[in-house]
Amino acid sequence: MSNSIITSAFDIDTIRADFPLLGEQMRGKPIVFLDSAASSQKPQQVLDALDYYYKHQNANVHRGVYELSQQATDAYEQGRESARRFLNAASTEEIILVKGTTDGINLVASSFGRKYLREGDEVVISAMEHHSNIVPWQLACEQSGATLKVIPVNDKGELLMDEYEKLLTDRTKIVALVHVSNALGTINPVEEVIAKAHERGIPVLLDGAQATPHMKVDVQALDVDFYTFSGHKVFGPTGIGILYGKKKWLEDLPPYQGGGEMIATVTFEKTTYNELPHKFEAGTPDISGAVGLGVALDYIEKIGQDNIAAHENALLQSATEQLLAIDGLRIIGTADNKASVISFLIDGAHPYDVGTILDKLGIAVRTGHHCTQPLMDRFGIPGTVRASFAAYNNEDDVEQLIAGVQRAARMLL
Ligand code: ALA
Repeated sequence: MSNSIITSAFDIDTIRADFPLLGEQMRGKPIVFLDSAASSQKPQQVLDALDYYYKHQNANVHRGVYELSQQATDAYEQGRESARRFLNAASTEEIILVKGTTDGINLVASSFGRKYLREGDEVVISAMEHHSNIVPWQLACEQSGATLKVIPVNDKGELLMDEYEKLLTDRTKIVALVHVSNALGTINPVEEVIAKAHERGIPVLLDGAQATPHMKVDVQALDVDFYTFSGHKVFGPTGIGILYGKKKWLEDLPPYQGGGEMIATVTFEKTTYNELPHKFEAGTPDISGAVGLGVALDYIEKIGQDNIAAHENALLQSATEQLLAIDGLRIIGTADNKASVISFLIDGAHPYDVGTILDKLGIAVRTGHHCTQPLMDRFGIPGTVRASFAAYNNEDDVEQLIAGVQRAARMLL
């Protein structure tokens, strides 16, 4: 295991040294990685944990009486406990290990939809949802005859809360909302959204994929019914994620998938289901993923989410001011409350061309619609260039970005 020391004081050089890939080159240049909203880099602590697990603990979980299987089970369940603590959930019974945010939303849309959605019912989402929080609800609506309702956004990319309140009716069965927009960076007023829904007895699901890397999330303080996020965006492995659900909901909803682990007894006549959280975990789970995710979440907690938020906010302010000084550049998504995601366009230049020039300079950004086509339509654009910052980015990354965008603007205009 790595001995890198993380103190509660935020030391950017120590943090950067934990991420081996940040020392690599891209296109022959030191990499400037500004696409953490798509997937984050991994610290040595996570890589070591995966290596240790496969070398010393690898076996299937919850199945063997032999010691190795018990060690694997303990390591897997330790990942769940880290996720419980990370979200401040009351119990590990409320922590379902899933493949990622998309899987978590599909689980709820499928199980909740089967049990509660009927013709004439409504599901409320927003105009800034990722496709992952649109399509599962469309599938649930198609199956049930329910209708999707969409909270509009203003030109800054903020929810129109008056319109939201108007959408809440006796027909509304669930509200499903992104906590932080992946394309705009908007931090939604989720406390208010949840309170308004709960006044009417409506449950709320939050897509926390872009919130969890940047801020402390407390599911009990939020009083949210379902919360889901992906491991690979919080310095953990791909293929693993968390769905938090209030116990009363998880007990109430039917299983999502059938198979091993989620059963108590099986006969050809009738199957009974396992207790929480296993009722929602069919098949051999991503054991090493859970191990790596647990270590990643512990790593974030050790750095301190408030420290991360303050650091990223400084980078966001600096990059925003310097980008806006570039002629013809406009930022899409100018909410008052933003996380460290900047989407922008240079008038007359295609986002893809800007991204390609940045790539040649060793700068990784994402270009395109960011899996939010309806949101791009709302702004009348095909896509943007998106730079996103994580805890390991520094002011030098901002400088490289600004110099690269200035160069792209000179070359393309
Ligand atoms: N949803 C991820 C992104 O915004 C993949 O890039």
